[in-house]
Order: sequence, then C-alpha cells, then structure tokens
Amino acid sequence: MLKGKRILLIVAGGIAAFKSLELIRRLRERGASVRCVLTEAGAKFVTPLSLQALSEDRVYSDMFSLTDESEMGHIQLSRDADLLVVAPATANILARMAGGLADDLAATVLLATDKPVLAAPAMNVRMWTHAATVANVETLKQRGIHFVGPNDGAMACNEFGPGRMSEPEEIADAIEELLAPAEQPLAGKRAVVTSGPTREAIDPVRYISNHSSGKQGHAIASALAALGADVALVSGPVSIADPPGLRTVHVDSADQMLAACLAAGRIDIAVCAAAVADWKATRPSGSKIKKKAGTAPPSLELTPNPDILATLSKPGPQRPALVVGFAAETENLVANAIDKRQRKGCDWIVANDVSPAVGTFGGERNTVHLISASGVEDWPTLAKGEVAMRLAGRIALHFSLPPKAEAAE
Ligand SMILES: Cc1cc2nc3c(=O)[nH]c(=O)nc-3n(C[C@H](O)[C@H](O)[C@H](O)COP(=O)(O)O)c2cc1C
Repeated sequence: MLKGKRILLIVAGGIAAFKSLELIRRLRERGASVRCVLTEAGAKFVTPLSLQALSEDRVYSDMFSLTDESEMGHIQLSRDADLLVVAPATANILARMAGGLADDLAATVLLATDKPVLAAPAMNVRMWTHAATVANVETLKQRGIHFVGPNDGAMACNEFGPGRMSEPEEIADAIEELLAPAEQPLAGKRAVVTSGPTREAIDPVRYISNHSSGKQGHAIASALAALGADVALVSGPVSIADPPGLRTVHVDSADQMLAACLAAGRIDIAVCAAAVADWKATRPSGSKIKKKAGTAPPSLELTPNPDILATLSKPGPQRPALVVGFAAETENLVANAIDKRQRKGCDWIVANDVSPAVGTFGGERNTVHLISASGVEDWPTLAKGEVAMRLAGRIALHFSLPPKAEAAE
C-alpha cells in the first residue's frame, strides 16, 4: 500500500502518456496522492484537464508562472513529494536529465530534487537502443535514478522490440517497492565487498593490472545494502561511479586492498569479487625506468601478492561467518573453482568464465556457478545486477537457516 505517500508524476511527450492517466488511478487506489508536472510536448498527448481531474490537484507546466511560483515554488514542488516518477520518460527528458539541463519546469524539478526518482522509459526501439540513450541511461543509473521497464512489445510506430512503457500496474508495483521496501533480512549484518582490479606499480607511471570493470562487485555491494546490510565496498581503480547508499574505500594495490578489508574490523560477510593481481613487482622503481638505446629491456622480477581471500577465510574469532570468493577462469572453470574453495578455506565460490569470447570482463551479463560444501549450482546467464541480487538473496537465506541446515542449502 502507498497510504499517505506523495508522488510527483512528470508526464513527458510520448504516445504512452495516455497510460499515465491510468497510472494516476492505480496510485490513488493504493492510497497515494499524485501531483502532476506536464511538459510542453506532454500536453500534445494528454490534456492538463484530464490529469487535473484524475489527480484532483492542479497541474504544473510553466516555470515562469507568477501564480504557480508564489503558490508552489519549483524547489518546493521538487521536495514536497516522497518520490518523483517520470512516466513516460522520453529519450529527450532522459537526455536532459543526464546532461543536467534545467530548461523547463520538469527538468528543473528533476535537477533540484533531493528525493528518489523513478523513470519509466517509453520510446521507439531504435531510440531506446541508440548509443546516446544507452549512455544517458547508464549515467542516470550510476547516479542512483531507478528505472522500471521498458518492456518488449508492439509499438504505436508499428515496430517491435524494447521501448514500450511498463504497464501502469507494473509502475505502481515498482513505486511501492521503492517507497515501502520489502523487509531487510540482512539488517544488522556487516559486509565487506571487494571489487575491480588492483594496480601493482612497476614504477611511478607503469603498472600491472587486468580488465576487471568492477561492475559485478559494485552490483553485489548494492544488492547486499538493499537487503539491509551495512556494506563497505573496497574498490580498485574503476571507471564506474560509487554506488549510492554505502561506503566506498578506494585503493590501488592488493596490499592496500587487504589493509582496507582488515581495517573494516569485525564483519559477518566478506565477498571477494575483486580481480586481485596475483603478483607485484618485487622492487618497484621510485623513478620512471628510462628506455636506453641499444640496451636490453629491463627484466621484471615478480613477488606473490598477499592472498586476500585466504587471509579473510583463516579460522579464528575474527573470521566472517560467511566468506565468498570469486574464481575467474578461462579453462576447467568448475574443477578449478572447486579446488580453489578448498585451498582458500572460503565457504562459497562464485565461478565465472572470463575467456575474452564470453565478454564477462566489462560486459553487462555473467554466467556463474555457485560452489558450496553441498555442491555446484549452475545459474543461467543473467545481467550482473540480477546475479548480484540472486547472490545477496542466497546470503540472506544462509543467515536465516539454523547452522545444521546449511548442508541442505
Ligand atoms: C506522435 C509522436 C509521438 C512521439 N512519441 C515519443 C515517444 O514515445 N518517446 C519519445 O521519447 N519521444 C516521442 N516523441 C518525440 C517527443 O515528443 C519529443 O522528443 C519531445 O521533444 C519530447 O519532449 P519532453 O521530453 O520535454 O516531453 C514523439 C513525437 C511525436 C510527434
């Protein structure tokens, strides 16, 4: 139920705007109040009068209306709600949001708000899959904007594919999920998640590293936080944003990553998703190694890095109740991962194939196997966010079971 919740519904200029009328009804049936902002293009598709009649409130469109500004200023409008919903979210308004524009009332309210924002995109399939829209949506997701849909389906433009706005009932469910989140089974649990690659200096300008993007580890940190865990994300150098709602500690080398994990103190859950470099230069040079004409290239002597997973898995009073490692392999994936679980002493291993042909490093999807004392579970190929949610769900289940039930998990 959404009893007492205030929704600011921003209706932009897409064919799907007619569904927003139905959305208002659905939200009011669930107990929410709805106030509408209509873009100039939105008004070509639905009338202010329809929105006003269904919301039983006045509709805001004009940024420079003296009457509106004195009754309900644009800043107040942006803050006087529990959630802002953009439905339909056109390619245009998503681009304006990503670019930080404030060129009409809707965009200004979205820029000025301190409240969560949910967007329900609706557009032609080519507009949705265009690199510009893909980049804008990625930027907005990284900034914490929530999305529902779009769905696959037949469109008003006679094409078929992703781009169809979610149905009003689905949008109302997503709103309820955001405003009245499900119970938080990991509340009270402390977690450390490592993510991204490490960089091992050869000299001040060169380093050894790998292609890890941090997408999977960051998604796991967010998923654990969404289930109520107090999460510290220890991230190597990545180009993605820090997830909202948790602490991120930035490190470079494996030594720094281990130190940051140990500095987190007593934790219940450790998920080691980082692709930690196995070796570091034995004697990194303090100054840039010069290339000298006619001399052989310098040889690089390597030393093993500290084993973060094995260190956190060591038995003792400080050991987290659950230690999950990742195995990135290019061959004999499952056999190597089973072996790794035993060697490291961790509880679970998430094994993923990182052969270049699979595209796991830097990609959006992952095919993993979960290896525990009770065997191997093959998961289907999923978006990294879904792998993260599934893993967080399994972790929550682990903590809800009595200790002896673990073998049957
Ligand atoms: C008939 C018609 C239908 C349109 N449908 C959509 C749509 O579904 N999604 C979209 O992103 N843009 C659509 N557009 C284009 C937008 O209306 C246009 O980009 C407009 O500038 C959006 O402004 P707004 O985002 O400020 O509302 C449509 C245009 C027309 C003429």
